[in-house]
Amino acid sequence: MEETEFAFSEAQFKKICALLYEHAGIALSDQKKSMVYSRLARRLRALQLRDFADYLSLLNSDQGDQEWQHFVNALTTNLTSFFREEHHFHTLAALLPDWLQAYGQVRIWCAAASTGEEPYSLAITAAEALHSLHAPVQIWASDIDTDVLRRAATGVYPLKAVEQLSLERKRAFFLRGRGQQEGQVRVRDELRHMLLFEQINLLDSLWRIEAPLDAIFCRNVFIYFDRPTQERLLERFASLLRPEGRLFLGHSEVLGQGSAWWEACGRTTYSLRRRA
Ligand SMILES: C[S@@+](CC[C@H](N)C(=O)[O-])C[C@H]1O[C@@H](n2cnc3c(N)ncnc32)[C@H](O)[C@@H]1O
Repeated sequence: MEETEFAFSEAQFKKICALLYEHAGIALSDQKKSMVYSRLARRLRALQLRDFADYLSLLNSDQGDQEWQHFVNALTTNLTSFFREEHHFHTLAALLPDWLQAYGQVRIWCAAASTGEEPYSLAITAAEALHSLHAPVQIWASDIDTDVLRRAATGVYPLKAVEQLSLERKRAFFLRGRGQQEGQVRVRDELRHMLLFEQINLLDSLWRIEAPLDAIFCRNVFIYFDRPTQERLLERFASLLRPEGRLFLGHSEVLGQGSAWWEACGRTTYSLRRRA
């Protein structure tokens, strides 16, 4: 058996999974034990705790309040990229002019925004489709994880993150860092002004989002939730959307024939089911 710095029993792993599920809806599989260990071992070191028993006691104590956010931040998976699953951005670009004409403004919620590549891709899409960096488009960029949201708000990325974007896009929407910022780019301020950053746990009963919305991007987070949680979210999303709005899910989050609320209208793209 491999020697580890902190003893980590099966019961402690199960307890941590249960706490994460309760707080964030994230259902971890049994294969994630070593991932959980390595991510939380950093917290144990930072807090100078002896073992996982002490860590669990801290979470349960009055002093544990602040640790909950670190706990969740440590255990989320934040993989993302600019224009990931690009077909969704083409769909959105085609719809934006009509939505703007109909309502005079567009509202989009990016509900698992991670480090910001997705909401900034939405802002770029809006600027291109509406031929303006100042179009009345509001994008809420939310996530449960406060670390990634902080990074998103800076709008700063390594050059590598934008490497696959066209030269036109890089020139139009990013500033290249010089001196100490060499090797980095910063998203133009006009794009950042389209975004509002908000910490939102999708499990919370109240979401600080202004409805009605034209589009909800909730991609590559449903996979972490169980079916009842997904169903609850699908129903709540439906109540926030304008009749012609769209819900965009991730590539593996197919609803089959749709759901009680949604019908498919493209690849992992859904519109509200019309009721008789
Ligand atoms: C794999 S990333 C997906 C990022 C982006 N949507 C994309 O498709 O590229 C999943 C994100 O969901 C967030 N997340 C997990 N549970 C959440 C919850 N209960 N409420 C809100 N966000 C959550 C994580 O913090 C993480 O940033």
